Amino acid sequence: MPDAIANGKSPAASRCQMTEIVLPNDTNAQGTMFGGRLLSLMDKCAAISAMRHADKVCVTVAVDSVEFHSPVNLGDVVILEACVNRVFRTSLEVEIEVFAENYLKQDRRQCNRAFFTFVAVDDDGRPTPVPALCPETEEEQKRYEHAAMRRELRLFLKGRTAMDETVYIKDELIAVISGRDL
Ligand SMILES: CC(C)(COP(=O)(O)OP(=O)(O)OC[C@H]1O[C@@H](n2cnc3c(N)ncnc32)[C@H](O)[C@@H]1OP(=O)(O)O)[C@@H](O)C(=O)NCCC(=O)NCCS
Repeated sequence: MPDAIANGKSPAASRCQMTEIVLPNDTNAQGTMFGGRLLSLMDKCAAISAMRHADKVCVTVAVDSVEFHSPVNLGDVVILEACVNRVFRTSLEVEIEVFAENYLKQDRRQCNRAFFTFVAVDDDGRPTPVPALCPETEEEQKRYEHAAMRRELRLFLKGRTAMDETVYIKDELIAVISGRDL
């Protein structure tokens, strides 16, 4: 393990789980949960995880790979699980997974997954450095490595990283994803 992360906090230390029941106010006319309501809960759960790690106020700067696999129904119990995948200088990537449980049908399914990027800020709202993260398990190590690739793509697509600064991205991949000629 690289020295730079050897003294960091573990991902487990910032894990956050939230549980909510879906009530009529949370649903549309079809009796399924509004996507925006779910995103709001996800943002809250992911922010708690980021702030547990950073010990500072963290603001959402980007959300990507939101996937709604299956609807969440009225009466379902929603479980959100967030953990920090990797920290950079002032920013952190948090992965969040959402499950729905229906006790009447004895059913539990994964509904959603997304990656949130937060930035730790000081009292003046300026980005401020966060403690290192030290992955401990094989799964955490994999998430740690993949987070760097996602960050590179994220910053490239936002025009914050030039192609000649990228490590992981290949021209062909970018052409496919962005739909433009390079
Ligand atoms: C977050 C914020 C302080 C960053 O300001 P900034 O001027 O872009 O700051 P910097 O350029 O120094 O970037 C700070 C970090 O954010 C990261 N970042 C900025 N934009 C990003 C994006 N679109 N995706 C991923 N990371 C991003 C940078 O890579 C940098 O990370 P690093 O320090 O780990 O390398 C500013 O954009 C902000 O206040 N945004 C509003 C946040 C908010 O209100 N969120 C709630 C929405 S209602």
